[in-house]
Amino acid sequence: MKNFSISIKKKINHFNKSIYVEGDKSISHRALLIASQSHGGISKISGLLESEDILNCVKALRQLGVKIIKKKNEHWIFGNGLGSFRIKNNATINCGNAGTLARLIMGCLSSYPIKIKIIGDKSLSKRPMGRVIKPLEKFGCRFYPKNKKNLPIVMQGTDFPAPIKHVEKIGSAQVKSAIQFAALNTPGITKIMEVKKSRDHTENLLKFIGVKIKVNKKKSSNKILIEGQKEFKFFKLDIPGDISSAAFFIVLTILNKNSKLKIKNINLNPTRAGILKILTLMKAKISLKNIKNVNGEKRGDIIVKSSKLVGINCPTSLVPSAIDEFPIIMLAASLAKGVSTFSGLNELEKKESPRLSVMNSILRQINIKTRLKKDKIKIYGNADINLKKTYKIKTFGDHRICMTAFIMAQLFGGKFNIKDCNSINTSFPKFLTLMKKIGAHYEIK
Ligand code: S3P
Repeated sequence: MKNFSISIKKKINHFNKSIYVEGDKSISHRALLIASQSHGGISKISGLLESEDILNCVKALRQLGVKIIKKKNEHWIFGNGLGSFRIKNNATINCGNAGTLARLIMGCLSSYPIKIKIIGDKSLSKRPMGRVIKPLEKFGCRFYPKNKKNLPIVMQGTDFPAPIKHVEKIGSAQVKSAIQFAALNTPGITKIMEVKKSRDHTENLLKFIGVKIKVNKKKSSNKILIEGQKEFKFFKLDIPGDISSAAFFIVLTILNKNSKLKIKNINLNPTRAGILKILTLMKAKISLKNIKNVNGEKRGDIIVKSSKLVGINCPTSLVPSAIDEFPIIMLAASLAKGVSTFSGLNELEKKESPRLSVMNSILRQINIKTRLKKDKIKIYGNADINLKKTYKIKTFGDHRICMTAFIMAQLFGGKFNIKDCNSINTSFPKFLTLMKKIGAHYEIK
């Protein structure tokens, strides 16, 4: 698909609307990868995100011999049980832009003793894979060329996987999930000590479908125990909206005048909802309605109103549960009254683009004063900003940078030309249509 730019010349008007956003990307990946290894029948998933990252996941699973079809609003996955993937030696799996797919599928393939090449796009090929390679080597996998720590890479699983003990210190749910997926195909009990906590969708889904998993939650760390090589049954799952997609609409509503928005049926898992806590500390008017627990995950409606934000010193403990939302949170801070400080953001540099440095330069480009020091940024908010010039924004193929720039252009005045906006399709193909629904003006170039 040809890459496109977005031109925005006018601020958004006030609005009062109600919307749904598309399905959660993290849960969509997990649902597909787990259903593909379930047995006894067809798993039926509603609300699956149909973005490029998830379509790459479907493609990869079809390559592994899994039948996946769409029937009305459901995706049907014909799993054939643990160890049932059929794949040719020297096959190549292309993960596109999807870090979650690359790391999680490596875990799923850890017990197949053939060579599989894992590749990705330019951005994914720069991202660190050593963090999954290391624990998977402990299970018995091999990776070629030796000592390479990024894609493309060739992996070779093992016929005799051995359970491992792993201490998860990065706070990466992708690493934790890759290990859990490897554990499913490994005899005995794999143990993960989660010293730095991260999103727990894999644990929740595995528990929900009856896998032998125990999670001992403690204040300082969690202990996860998985007994492997135990078949699990097909399941039915409904996926709620993605809070990471809702985030752009939440911040737009807060920062726009006289506006109100209801975003329905959003995943509110506490390991993901950090943005709501951070914005509430900044004095945003956010309330939650219709909260329920469905399929092991909390969900509900988010109601948000225009608010006057104040700067905060953001507690570092909230960073992991808002990790993907920092570009848009930084934008919120730039229109708040006073100074905001965010620290402990080193993982941001390892995302689809180095998001901390990229956001720092974008904010400086529009004359917001910032101070960046290692993994800490200070943003000097300017609640009265009203830009007049024309700005060309580079987005580095990063969907969340692109959507953050779009929100900025709706609020700050001036004229904006946002480059390389194809990336939006990796996580949120309906973003522009929904923005139009609430009154955003833009042109595709
Ligand atoms: C994800 C985990 C996070 C997050 C990513 C999705 C997942 O990455 O940034 O967008 O679905 O497990 P890390 O595990 O690298 O922190």
